[in-house]
Amino acid sequence: MKISIIGTGYVGLVTGVCLAKKGHNVICVDRVESIINSINSGIAPIFEKHLEDLLLEVIRDKLTATSDVGYAVENSEVSIIAVGTPFSEGNIDLKNVKEAAYDIGVILKKKKDYHVVCVKSTVIPTTTDTMILKTLEEASGKKLGEFGLVMNPEFLREGNAVEDFMNPDRIIIGAMDDKSFEVFSKIYKSHFDAPIVKTNSRTAEMIKYTSNALLAALISFSNEIAAISEEIGDTDALEVLEGVHMDRRLSLIVEGKITMPGIIKYLKPSRGFGGSCFPKDVKSLIAFSEKLGYKPKILKSVIEVNESQIERLVLKLKDEIGEIRDKTIAILGLAFKAGTDDIRESQSIKLIRRLIKEGAVLKCYDPIAIENAKKELEEQANLEFYSNYENTLLNADAALIMTDWDTIANISIDVFKKLMKNPVIIDGCRILIKNNIKEQKTKYRGIGLRMIEK
Ligand SMILES: NC(=O)c1ccc[n+]([C@@H]2O[C@H](COP(=O)([O-])OP(=O)(O)OC[C@H]3O[C@@H](n4cnc5c(N)ncnc54)[C@H](O)[C@@H]3O)[C@@H](O)[C@H]2O)c1
Repeated sequence: MKISIIGTGYVGLVTGVCLAKKGHNVICVDRVESIINSINSGIAPIFEKHLEDLLLEVIRDKLTATSDVGYAVENSEVSIIAVGTPFSEGNIDLKNVKEAAYDIGVILKKKKDYHVVCVKSTVIPTTTDTMILKTLEEASGKKLGEFGLVMNPEFLREGNAVEDFMNPDRIIIGAMDDKSFEVFSKIYKSHFDAPIVKTNSRTAEMIKYTSNALLAALISFSNEIAAISEEIGDTDALEVLEGVHMDRRLSLIVEGKITMPGIIKYLKPSRGFGGSCFPKDVKSLIAFSEKLGYKPKILKSVIEVNESQIERLVLKLKDEIGEIRDKTIAILGLAFKAGTDDIRESQSIKLIRRLIKEGAVLKCYDPIAIENAKKELEEQANLEFYSNYENTLLNADAALIMTDWDTIANISIDVFKKLMKNPVIIDGCRILIKNNIKEQKTKYRGIGLRMIEK
């Protein structure tokens, strides 16, 4: 099929490249010229494994990029909206989605052929069948039926985005009518081996929010258990949760072996969640629910527990090294999770801001997210970035692990001891091997673990 994608960030570009790889003809649209130029040169503007290799395979023959939305819509049968939907001033900001729908609608006015518009951006329930539909109808002068409209939420995980898109668990299509569904589902039918779930747009929108809210809730639940375990002392929340994982209601026993479903990963103590989705999606759902007249209780606590994780890390640090001012702190990991250069809502960036206020001298390491972090954090004398962890750790008074990169997990305790002034390690990701640490008498504090010296 001929597909145009409006907004080619993490979701739009991965969607475009993967659909082109499946044989569709894709035109990517973005309003940022540097993104267009980068895509057309075969260079992925974001880091995501396999993305650039696939882009090089499809560029020109199957995929092109342009800033001309008119050209893209005229030359396609389906337009997928994948623009950002940030949380701003207490609400989801739907400005980008509305503008994209308007731009498409203007072209649909002149277009004779039937065209389906798809909302892939995460939008609060009712957005597609009210605001998007109204915008399209007003801009095009046409009625639903003369064009199609669906909501097709995206579930890819950054760091694993290409694999997730290529091998989806399910494809949810919230269609406004049967014809929209029939035409749009051709994109997936016979190309992807996953059940296609046909529903209405509100349900599709709510499936996406519920999915992210559940995962965020599991993380905050684990961190609440971690906080209680820390208060008890000598009780490792990681072991506690691993003990819980083994319940056959959570992990299947297949041929005598325990198999852990992916969701178990979210039942783990950590520095909390970040990224461009969980924080904003949970907050947007809370705000939307309150507008409807229901005050969510669990979802508010999910955010509250997550936000308190930064303060808890700072308290652990103070416990170990006392006054923070003028101390040299190594920050290992800047990206909000391993496998991506995305630092949006990263807990690491929030911690860095907090420690700068306390007067710390910060040395920061990340294998790929340094450039994005530099853009985000204003330049200052007491903040330095290193592309190797050895120089980061050198003469540090403490190290905080904030991203679960393998390169960080594999640093041996001897390296910490050899390089640091004072081997205090605060493990926000619980990725260092605990037994090792106990034997080595390092000052180690993991989320959910406070050892009591006997
Ligand atoms: N990032 C994820 O892991 C993920 C996963 C699932 C769903 N989502 C949802 O997908 C949507 C996109 O997320 P993202 O992370 O890819 O965002 P992003 O910020 O990386 O990309 C959005 C892109 O859209 C462009 N854009 C904005 N308005 C435009 C317009 N009117 N015309 C043309 N281009 C425009 C921006 O320049 C940007 O390049 C959001 O709603 C997000 O919640 C994201």
